[in-house]
Amino acid sequence: MGNSLDQVLDRAFGHPRGLLGRLGGAVMAHGNAATERHIVEVAKPDTAETVLVVGPGPGVGLRAAGERAALAIGVDPSAEMLERCRERCADLIEAGKVRLRAGSAEETGEADASADVVLSVNNVQLWTDRAAGFAELYRVLRPGGRLVLSAHDRWLPLPRHELADELTAAGFTDLQTWVWEPPGVAGSLAAQFRALRPAE
Ligand SMILES: C[S@@+](CC[C@H](N)C(=O)[O-])C[C@H]1O[C@@H](n2cnc3c(N)ncnc32)[C@H](O)[C@@H]1O
Repeated sequence: MGNSLDQVLDRAFGHPRGLLGRLGGAVMAHGNAATERHIVEVAKPDTAETVLVVGPGPGVGLRAAGERAALAIGVDPSAEMLERCRERCADLIEAGKVRLRAGSAEETGEADASADVVLSVNNVQLWTDRAAGFAELYRVLRPGGRLVLSAHDRWLPLPRHELADELTAAGFTDLQTWVWEPPGVAGSLAAQFRALRPAE
């Protein structure tokens, strides 16, 4: 019973695929929208910057990033979610402001120091190897670039301050962490982090 519920949740939200993935995408696009947009506000990408959005799911934050940055790149392992991003961001893709790529936090496929900003919302709990993921996000950020990460506080894979310690161990500096309560009843308390790849 527990296992089959886990499988349903994984198909809907963790590694969205098929009909459940489409339903999960619609639920996330509604329930996580405020947090996705808030994280773009926290990162404040400017019009000359490139933003890498890890695990964009249905693409609400990807769209918000593409609307204000020079370029937003969405990297997600789910073909279903990449399709939702393609629909949601069709005009921005056409305008060359959003690109999509199959990949993961651990393997983004992006070049060294190619991003000014990296965003991750509600996927750190799904990474198969957090140390590899943080090393990869550090690699793709330019020196002085910033990482902003958010996750449902109740589903954090470890206590918030221990996750902050992992970011520091990966080389990130100027670390800040806090919790944020999305407006309305649909959202849940978010644990959030902001850190820099140190300038050289
Ligand atoms: C719970 S959804 C969150 C989607 C969206 N960011 C939101 O908050 O609505 C998790 C997303 O992370 C993706 N994902 C799963 N494993 C991942 C990994 N190792 N690296 C990056 N993204 C991953 C899933 O495909 C899915 O799109």
